[in-house]
Amino acid sequence: AIDISSLSRQTGLNTLDGGFVNTAATKSSITYIDGDAGILRYRGYAIEDIAANSTYLEVAWLLIYGELPSPSELAAFDEKVRRHTLLHEDMRHLFDALPHNAHPMSVLSSAVSALSTYYQDSLDVHDPEQVEISTIRLLAKLPVIAAYAHKKSLGQAFLYPDNSLSFVDNFLKLNFGTMAEPYQVNPVLSKALDRLLILHEDHEQNASTSTVRLVGSTEANIFASVSAGINALYGPLHGGANEAVLKMLGEIKASGEGVAKFVERVKNKEEGVRLMGFGHRVYKNFDPRARLVKESADEVLQSLGIQDDLLDIAKELEAVALADDYFISRKLYPNVDFYTGVIYKAMGFPSRMFTPLFAIGRLPGWIAQWREMNDDPATKIGRPQQVYTGPPLRAWPQR
Ligand code: ACO
Repeated sequence: AIDISSLSRQTGLNTLDGGFVNTAATKSSITYIDGDAGILRYRGYAIEDIAANSTYLEVAWLLIYGELPSPSELAAFDEKVRRHTLLHEDMRHLFDALPHNAHPMSVLSSAVSALSTYYQDSLDVHDPEQVEISTIRLLAKLPVIAAYAHKKSLGQAFLYPDNSLSFVDNFLKLNFGTMAEPYQVNPVLSKALDRLLILHEDHEQNASTSTVRLVGSTEANIFASVSAGINALYGPLHGGANEAVLKMLGEIKASGEGVAKFVERVKNKEEGVRLMGFGHRVYKNFDPRARLVKESADEVLQSLGIQDDLLDIAKELEAVALADDYFISRKLYPNVDFYTGVIYKAMGFPSRMFTPLFAIGRLPGWIAQWREMNDDPATKIGRPQQVYTGPPLRAWPQR
C-alpha cells in the first residue's frame, strides 16, 4: 500500500475512489483477509480453527485484547459480562414508546444510542476504565436489547436475563422463553448460534465497521459510534442481506417460476432483482464463512428434523449460479449471509431478527476496531475529500 495521506497537503492533488475500492483508511492488526484465496484470520488465527474450537466471548476477548485469554481471564470476563446484562429499569420502558411493528434494527440503534444517556461516564473516551466498562456493558446488554425488540414485536412480556446461563443460552431463553413455562435450551441450537456469531465477529473495514471508526474519530463515545454502525449494517447490501435472502427464497417459492427463471431475471438485470447473498467486495473466489455456515445449516435442520423447501431452493440456486458464466465471470459466490437466514428461521427467529443477530455477532469487532482507533495517537478525524462538480461562482441575480 502506498501512503498518500499527506499528498493533498503537499501537492494539492487528491484521489477519487468511490466506494473506497482502492483506498485504505487505516492500518489495523485485528483481522486479515485475502479475498482471492478465501482466507479470513482474526489476530492471526484461521477462521476455521476459531469456529471449531472457540466461543463467542473467547473470540471477543481475542479481538479486543489481541491474544487468546487464559482460562482464568476468560472465566472472569464471562462473569463480568453476566453481571452487566440487566438494563436499567427505566430503559425497559423506552421500548414502550416505540411502535410494536418497528423494525428491530431501528429499535437496536435507538436503544444503543440511549445507553450513553444512562452511562454518561462513557463520554470520556480517554479514560481507559470507562472504555473498559462500556465494552462490558455493550457486550452484555446488546443481546438483551435485541431480545426485547423481538419480544415486543410478539406482544410478549420481557424476561429478565438469567445469569446462571451462558451468553448464548441466556440469549435464546430471552427470545424463546415465556413467563408461563420453564425454558429448556437445545444444545444443538446453542452451539450453532455460537458458531454463527463467531463467524460474524469481525471483517476488517466493512461499511458498518468503517462507520464506527468514522464516528469514533470525532471522539464520540462508543455507544454513539456503535449505534451508527448498527444503522450502517441495517441496509440490504450489508447486514440486511440475510433478511433479503430469505425474502428472495420465499418469493421464488411463491411465484412458482423456478430457480432457472429467477436466475435469468437476475442476469437480465431486471430492476431490483439481484441474487441476494451472492457477491462480496473482497471475496472473489469463495467466502470461507459461507462454507462453515452451509455445514451448520445441514446440521441444524437435520437435528431439528426440519425439511425446509427454502433450503432446497437455496441449494439449487447456488448450484445453478455456480455453473453459470454470468456469475463465474463476475466472481460472484455465496457470501456468509446466503445460508444464515435458513438456519435462523429453523431456530425460530422471525426474518426481521436476522440482522440484529448479525449485529450481536459483529459487536466485538466494532468494539475492537473502535478501541484500536481510539488508542492510536495517529488517529485523525475522518474527513474524506470530494471532487466538486457544481457550477463555478455565479453572480447573485438582481431581483
Ligand atoms: N446478483 C447479481 N449480480 C451481481 C450481484 C448479485 N448479488 N453482485 C454483484 N453483481 C454484478 C453487478 O451487477 C456487476 O455486474 P456488471 O459488471 O455487469 O455491472 C458486477 O457483479 C460487480 O458488482 P458490483 O456491484 O460492482 O460489486 P460490489 O463489490 O460493489 O458489490 C455487493 C458487492 C454489494 C456485496 C454486491 O455483490 C451485492 O449487492 N450483493 C448482494 C447483497 C449481499 O449479499 N450483501 C451482503 C454482502 S456480505 C456482508 O455484508 C456480510
